[in-house]
Order: sequence, then C-alpha cells, then structure tokens
Amino acid sequence: MGRIFHLEVGADHLATLTFDTPGRKANIFSREALEELQAVVGELASRDDIGCLVLVSMKPGMFIAGADVDLIAEITDRAEAEAGVRFGQALFSAWEALPFPTVAAVSGTCVGGGTEIALASTYLVVSDRPELRIGLPEVRLGILPAWGGCTRLPRRIGALAALDIILAGKSILGRQAATLGLADAIFPEAGFFHHVRDFSRSRIGRKPRRRGRGFKAFLLEGNPLGRWFVFDQARKRTLTQTKGRYPAPIAALDAVRAGLDRGKRAGFEAEARAAGELATGAIAKNLIHVFRLMESAKKDGDGDAPAEIRRPAVLGAGTMGGGIAQLVADKMELPVRVKDVQSEALATALRHAKSLFDKQLRRRRIRSPELRRKMNLIQPTLEDAGLEASDFVVEAIVENLAVKQRVFEDLARRLPQSTILASNTSSLSIDDIGKLATHRQRIVGMHFFNPVDKMPLVEVIAGTVTSKETTRAVATFARRLGKTPVMVRDGPGFLVNRLLAFYSAEAMWLLDEGHRVEAIDRAMLDWGMPMGPLRLADEVGLDVSAKVGHILRAAFPDRLFFPEWLDRLAGEPKRLGLKSGLGVYRYQDRRESSVDPAIYAILGLRPDSSLAAPDAERMILPMVNEAARCLEDGIVDGPGPLDLAMVLGIGFPPFRGGLCRWADAAGLPAIVAKLEALAGDVSPRLAPSAALRQMAERGGFYRGRP
Ligand code: NAI
Repeated sequence: MGRIFHLEVGADHLATLTFDTPGRKANIFSREALEELQAVVGELASRDDIGCLVLVSMKPGMFIAGADVDLIAEITDRAEAEAGVRFGQALFSAWEALPFPTVAAVSGTCVGGGTEIALASTYLVVSDRPELRIGLPEVRLGILPAWGGCTRLPRRIGALAALDIILAGKSILGRQAATLGLADAIFPEAGFFHHVRDFSRSRIGRKPRRRGRGFKAFLLEGNPLGRWFVFDQARKRTLTQTKGRYPAPIAALDAVRAGLDRGKRAGFEAEARAAGELATGAIAKNLIHVFRLMESAKKDGDGDAPAEIRRPAVLGAGTMGGGIAQLVADKMELPVRVKDVQSEALATALRHAKSLFDKQLRRRRIRSPELRRKMNLIQPTLEDAGLEASDFVVEAIVENLAVKQRVFEDLARRLPQSTILASNTSSLSIDDIGKLATHRQRIVGMHFFNPVDKMPLVEVIAGTVTSKETTRAVATFARRLGKTPVMVRDGPGFLVNRLLAFYSAEAMWLLDEGHRVEAIDRAMLDWGMPMGPLRLADEVGLDVSAKVGHILRAAFPDRLFFPEWLDRLAGEPKRLGLKSGLGVYRYQDRRESSVDPAIYAILGLRPDSSLAAPDAERMILPMVNEAARCLEDGIVDGPGPLDLAMVLGIGFPPFRGGLCRWADAAGLPAIVAKLEALAGDVSPRLAPSAALRQMAERGGFYRGRP
C-alpha cells in the first residue's frame, strides 16, 4: 500500500492497519500521512471482506504523537488554517463512518490528533504500560483539539471529565483512561496485541455498546441547569488560572459547549473557526516556539552517545544536595551516596526526601514498597570512603571559593580521571573552582534551581577546558533526572542569574524611588511573570540574593548597581525571606500574608503615593540589554537556548515566547530608543549596550536563525 500505512486483512475478517512513519521515532500526522490515510479510508469504505479493523502503531512506546507542529508553526493564513482543520475533521468523520467497527490499539503515548482518531474509532483499548499517556495537550500550544476532540471527548466521558483534560491540556495514564471510560478496555503489556485481536474478533458483527457515565455526571450534566453550572465553574477556574493571557482554553470550552448544546456539526464548526484564529495568532506561535526549543533541548546532539552515569554521588546534603539526591533515587532509581560533614544535615535531607515521596504516595503516583525501595537508595554518610567508586560527583556545599577549590583538588586526586566532577555553584566560576585540581577536562558546572524537585532547568556549564564528552554526559544525566539542560559557558552568574540580577536590581531601584513593594510586584505579575521580583528575592533568600548581588556587582562594575541599602535588606538574622518566615513579605506556614510595612523604615525609604504604577518594561529592558552582551560573550549559543533558559529558569511568560523573541516582536530599535531615554531620565546604567545596538542593526536576535 502506501509508505506510511499498511493494511492486512486476515481470513477471519480481522483487518490491521499499521501506522509506521519511515525514519521517525514517532508517528505524526504530517501532510503526507493525512493524504495517505485519506486514500486508505476511501479504499476501506468500499471493502466488504472486513469484519473489524484494528489501528496499531509500530513505534515502541508511542502510538501517535499528533499533528505536525511544523505545519502549525508555519501557517499564517486563517482561511488556510481553517481548511486544514476541516480536512482532518472530514477524514476522521469518514473513519468514524466506516461500515465495520474500528479499534484503536493504544500501546504507547497517544496525544493530540492521535487521541482524536482514537476517539473517532468505535473502540479504544490501552495497554497497562506504566509510562503510557493519553491526552489532548493542544491548549499548551495555544490551539485546541480541533479534529473533533472537543466534540467527541465529552460524548465519551462526560463534560466534566472532558473539560478537565482539554482545558488543562492534560495527558492521563492508561489506567485512568479505563476508569473514566475513555478506554473501553485495558490489557497487559505482555501479549497486548494478542488480547487486542481477541477483543476485536469478538466485536465482529456486534453493535457497540457504550457504558453509562455514572450518577454524578448524570446529575450535573443531564439537565440544562447542571450543565450551565459545570461550564460556568470551568470558565471561572480557567480565567483565574490563565489570568486571561491564554485564549485557547476558553475557545476550547466554547467549542465543547457548542458541540453539546447544538450538536456535533456545530461543535466541529466551532472547533474549526477557533483553530483558524488561534493557530495564526501570536500566542500560539510563541508557545510553539517554546515547545520546539524544549524538543531540541531533549535531543542528545550528533555523534556517539555520551558515557552513561551509573554511580552518582552528592557532596553536601543541604537544600540543594538533598534535593538532587532525592531526584536521583526517584527518577533514575540508582543508589546515591550523599556526603555531608554534619549528621543533622543528612537527617534533614532524608526527612525532606521522605516528605516528597510521601506526597507522591498521597497522590497515588507510587505505592509503599516503591517508596521504601527509593528511600533505601539514598545512602547518607559522613565518610569520604566509598566515593572512589563513583563515576560522577556533584558538589553542593557552601558557596565559598576557597572551600570548593580544596574539595575539588582533593576529589581530583582521589577519584579516577574518568570521574566527572560537577559543581552546583550558583555564582562562582567553574574555571576558578577547578584551579587546583588535576584533569580539569572532567570538571563542569551543573546548576540546578531551587526547589530542585520543581524547577525544570539545569544549566550545564563548560569551563575553558571542560571536554565536550563531559558536558554531554552531564546533559544526558540531567535529562534522565527529568530536567531540561541548557548548555552555557563559564562566566559570572552564568546565564539565568546574570540576567536576573539586572532585573532584580532595577526592581530595587524602583523601590528606592518611592514605589511600593506591591506596585512593583503587581506590575510584573500583570506582565505575565509568575512572581514579582521582590517576592522572588524572598523566595531565593534575602541573604543569598544579597550575596549573589555583590558577586555580580563586582563582575559587572560598569553597569550593575544596587541601592546602598542592599545589605540592610539582608542585615537582620531573622529576616531571610520565605525560609525564616519574614522578608520583604511576611509569611505564615510558608504562605505570603502581606508586605511587612516595617521594610520601608529599615531601608530608610518613604513610599510616594503620588507615583504612577511602575512600568514593567523598566525591569525587562535591562535583561534584554544584558542578553545581547551574553550572546556577544558566547555565554549561550543563540537566542533560542537563552529564551528556553529564561522560560524554565525564572518563568518568563511562555505566551511571550522568551526574552529575545519578545524583544524582537517589540522591535529592537524601539527598545534601544527607550533605553536611551531611560539612560537620560533615570540613570546611565540603563544605556543600551553596543551589543544590543549591533543586534538591532542586524535586524533582531533571531534574524537569520530558527
Ligand atoms: P546549604 O547551606 O543548605 O547546604 C550546604 C551543605 O554542605 C551543608 O549541609 C553543609 O554541612 C555541607 N558541607 C559544607 N562543607 C562540606 C564538605 N566539605 N563536604 C560535605 N558537605 C559539606 O546550601 P545550599 O543552599 O544547598 O547550596 C549549596 C550550593 O548550591 C551552593 O554552592 C549554592 O550556591 C548552590 N545553589 C544554591 C541554590 C539555592 O537556592 N539555595 C540554588 C542553586 C545553587
């Protein structure tokens, strides 16, 4: 048959349609695949020797990964986008109308268009493979499930459960799919296709029967008032969560509603219209840009696979070291030695790890035996003995250059040359840390962010002599820990903290000028940041913020300045920010209650109520300015990884696509002009850098780049 789809019809009238895109790890609905499937469906409709058809994928662990994101990224014409959607809808409706039952045999990840063809099949069966996920993540890309997903899913599992999946762009486990009634059956992974064939044979000549949706769903959705309630609640929740910044979930909600209130055809119509508008809009383009950056960061790069880390150890069991050890035990299920000089630190680290596993237990992600097994993998020690057997050591001890230098000198002497020695330092130079050590090609930075279990980014830092094998092995290790690595070069603050310093400094200057804490943080929340800059300083720790501030101030004396009260901010031993319950804000049970009014007197400031709200761009533009310098200094390879690091490291709003992408959209000449004005009106520290001017002349950060 075709290149991608292969049909086989057995003597027992059971047909198998295999989806197998040559040369790719995943099946996607590319233009070619859609056209081929259209021809296949045309042929199938006229066959009278088929009793039941099974749709299978030949890709291990992967059923269908959905539509081709590149197609969506390219499209700029609304009518064309709508036409593309209608083509898919018609194709899946033709699939649904085939004159025999169809069975989607979902043996691996199934998302987006994959889930939509499965929904258009008569039956959907899943394997019990633990990593299997099935879902509709479209809204995460700023679009909506428009090949019938918004219309068919609520018909199968009820509006409440469907909205829960569609509006959050969720993917669920096979077991959950079976409980919700999304899957008609769940079979063991071993012998899956054997079970599928038995299931399918027994469906030949039978009319499909759907399960009821349960009493609760009936009560809620069975009458107009109940349905109104479901949609009203979902809309309010979505608007709160998205702060009105992400239009896709609301458009999806309207499409689901149209389909339920006015029938399938109206649902498809609403899907197509919304998809045309969303897919050609700036927000979807930005979200898809971030998605592609994430995808490329997942790849290993060319060449041989890097050495695999199998015997990791952690030095220092504090906030960061304890978190890293828990992650190794959890994600890699490897024994991990954790060494500290204080037994109390080890005990705290174990308690912290236990509390994280307990949370997973409560959420039913793991069971008790698994919890015990994973806890036992963490091997606390006060001794150096045993470290020799490690092939990787990550250091997370106190941020003090002399101490770190001695530790690396000692590790390098005692451990084999091949053992990778990584530092989680947040501000010290990797070259400096390794200065006294031998075989420095294996010394590298591996900068996790706090809290380790939640923050998705790891900066992998190459010193001047760090080998490529070392950075690649560490990047692969980070991926296996579930993190996204971004490769950066050694330099003060590396990438994220360097840019962040310019942002935080400007927030402090605004405070110094008389703006209130709430107004400054509000300006950035309204701009789309997950947290205001002063609240963030509390989160990081006022002591840590001030320390890093000083280090970076010394590194960039020509342009990074802080108000003289910086040290007073961290001067009181009990005012350390979130961790001590008091900082710029007051906290109760680690929750912020209010700004501490005493902060103004401590800093010697008097808020000026006559000031207009602070301009968010005043805090963003210094980062843009410094980003140009980071690129010029070769800290990071291009605006793409820089943008990814900012989105994952500080939560730069994904709907803006990243710092450089936002700046390009705003126009670099306009930004240069605004910085010039600020340099005149406010302070010369805000003057546009030569690097930024050059970038503006070149036509933008991304000019000539993907
Ligand atoms: P922490 O103070 O919580 O923990 C440091 C631990 O190292 C302490 O338990 C201490 O007893 C132990 N230690 C000191 N000398 C040691 C030695 N020679 N051998 C073994 N253990 C030793 O510090 P935290 O916050 O975990 O920071 C550790 C490192 O991670 C620092 O370099 C810091 O800059 C960096 N970092 C910190 C972040 C944060 O937000 N806390 C974020 C990213 C990096």
